[in-house]
Amino acid sequence: MNSIAVTALHKTYKGAITPSLQGLTFRFAEGKIVGLLGPNGAGKTTTISILCGLVRPDSGDVEVCGLRQDAAHREEIKRLIGVVPQQIALFPQLTAVENLLYFGALYGYKGAAFKSKVLALLELFGLEKAAHKETGKYSGGMKRRANIIASILHEPRLLILDEPTAGVDVQSRSMILQFLKEYNSKGNTVVYTSHLLDEAQQLCEDVVIIDEGKLVVQGSPAELIHQQPHCRNLEDVFLHYTGHAVRD
Ligand SMILES: Nc1ncnc2c1ncn2[C@@H]1O[C@H](COP(=O)(O)OP(=O)(O)OP(=O)(O)O)[C@@H](O)[C@H]1O
Ligand SMILES: [Mg+2]
Repeated sequence: MNSIAVTALHKTYKGAITPSLQGLTFRFAEGKIVGLLGPNGAGKTTTISILCGLVRPDSGDVEVCGLRQDAAHREEIKRLIGVVPQQIALFPQLTAVENLLYFGALYGYKGAAFKSKVLALLELFGLEKAAHKETGKYSGGMKRRANIIASILHEPRLLILDEPTAGVDVQSRSMILQFLKEYNSKGNTVVYTSHLLDEAQQLCEDVVIIDEGKLVVQGSPAELIHQQPHCRNLEDVFLHYTGHAVRD
């Protein structure tokens, strides 16, 4: 089964002149770690927002874990997917524990057993000493790690992360990538976006490269590199297909 299937997606934001998505079509199989790649403004975050039901496309079909993303399936999909947003989505004046208990309550989790789970996750992500500190006082890497925990409290089958390693140090990055591998090894699908192409090359079994709201190419990093004789790595492939012009 596909974890994600988007077909002919079109989206122009209200008041915008240029479309953000122009017929985007791709599929990701279940159970893999996959990358959604593209230059700034390519439409990655817009696609993720549509997948989780936050933004409505103008036209096109969206399926998540085999379910059509519509009003009838929104609640079911919400239980199946976890989204780690590009912007940190924590209450800065609350501690990590307070934040996570709040997010858990949105899924109906409460009580001592859930609090123990929150503490165990904070330990897994190296945040046990800062568990009772306001997240507004956290470093960038700590905020990113806490942001991930907030999205996995309900153990989603499909975890989508929008630049989870942006602006974090080598140690936090390594911990986050290790976590993603382990989460995937339990049978869950991991979809992630990043501008760090060496990282995506190592981590992803399949990548989709999009640009200007359209699919450019899809394949495993090894396949894509092999297809272009002058490309030595995924960054070469990316530049081959998307060019050198800087984006707005
Ligand atoms: N709320 C919005 N209103 C109007 N235009 C928007 C909005 N959000 C995004 N856009 C535009 O849609 C296009 C795609 O943006 P999007 O954020 O999806 O790209 P992205 O691939 O996630 O880029 P980045 O790598 O910079 O995060 C861009 O041209 C952006 O300016
Ligand atoms: Mg984005």
